[in-house]
Amino acid sequence: MTKVAVVGSINLDVVVRLARRPEPGETVMGQWVGRFPGGKGMNQAVAAHRSGAVTRFCGQVGADPDGTFLRDALVTAGLSDADLLSDPNLPSGTAQIAALPGGENSIVVVPGANLGLSTERAVACLENAAVVLVQMEIDPGVVAAVLAAARDRGIATVLNAAPATEVGDALLSLVDVLIVNETELADLGGLERVLRRGPTHVVVTLGGDGAYCASLDARRKDVSAFVVDVLDTTGAGDAFCGVFAASIAQNLEIDEALKRASAAGAITASAMGAQDPSLSAAAIRELIDGGECA
Ligand code: RIB
Ligand code: NA
Repeated sequence: MTKVAVVGSINLDVVVRLARRPEPGETVMGQWVGRFPGGKGMNQAVAAHRSGAVTRFCGQVGADPDGTFLRDALVTAGLSDADLLSDPNLPSGTAQIAALPGGENSIVVVPGANLGLSTERAVACLENAAVVLVQMEIDPGVVAAVLAAARDRGIATVLNAAPATEVGDALLSLVDVLIVNETELADLGGLERVLRRGPTHVVVTLGGDGAYCASLDARRKDVSAFVVDVLDTTGAGDAFCGVFAASIAQNLEIDEALKRASAAGAITASAMGAQDPSLSAAAIRELIDGGECA
C-alpha cells in the first residue's frame, strides 16, 4: 500500500564546483562538474523511500537521453517508474547548480517536460496514499488539482512551497502541512497570515539553525540542526520534506517527524548531489541517537 505519494519535478542536475560566482561579463574556471538525478519532487520521493516509507512518485521527463538517465536513476533508487511519464515534445528538466565553498549554492532550473505533466496522471497516483507531498516546480494548476483530489479522499496534504513563488489563498486552504524556509515564508506574508489561511501546521526550516513547527492550537516545537561536515547543501531541504511527510504517514508525532527530517537534511548536506545513497532509516536513527546538535 502506498503511504506517501509525491507528485513533482524530476531534473538532471549539472553541478559545477567553483570558488566564487562570476561577475556579470566575467568567465571563471570551475574545479569540477558532475551529473546527478534531482528535481525537488524526485529528491523528496527518494528521501521518503530511503527513510522507510512505501513511496510512489509521479513526474515527467522528455524522450531524450537525460530522461533515460533519470528513469534509470529512479529505478536504481528503488522506486517504480510506472508513474514517470515521457513527453515526446519537451526536453527533460535540467538544473544548473553552482556549488560554492561552504556548501552554499545557486540554482537555475529549466523545467521542460515537468510543466507538461497532466492532471489526470498526477491525480491517479493518489490511489491508496495516506499522505501526498507536492512542491511548486510543476504547473500550479496540477498542484491545486492534486491537493483538491487528496482532500476529497481524506489524504493528508503536504505542500513544500518551493521555489519561492506566489501561492494563492485557494491553494493554501487545501494544505494540512506547509513546509517553507524563511524566505518562502516571508513571500507568503509571514506565519500569522499563513496559519489563518488553512494549514494546521507550518514547518519552517532554518538551515544551520534547525527548524520549527507552528500550529494554531498547539505550542511551537523546535528542533536544532545536527552538526555534520557540510559538502553540498543541495537537496537538504528536499530530504527534510520527504522524511517529514514519510514520518507523518508512519503516524509518528510531530516532534519525532521534525527530528528525523532534520537528521535527513544534515545527512544529505554532507554529500555531493541532492540524493545521498547513504540516507536510510538506520542512518537517521544513528544521527538522532548519537549526533551532536548545533
Ligand atoms: O532543491 C534542489 C533541487 O532544486 C535540485 O535537485 C534541482 O533539480 C532543483 O529542482
Ligand atoms: Na547534497
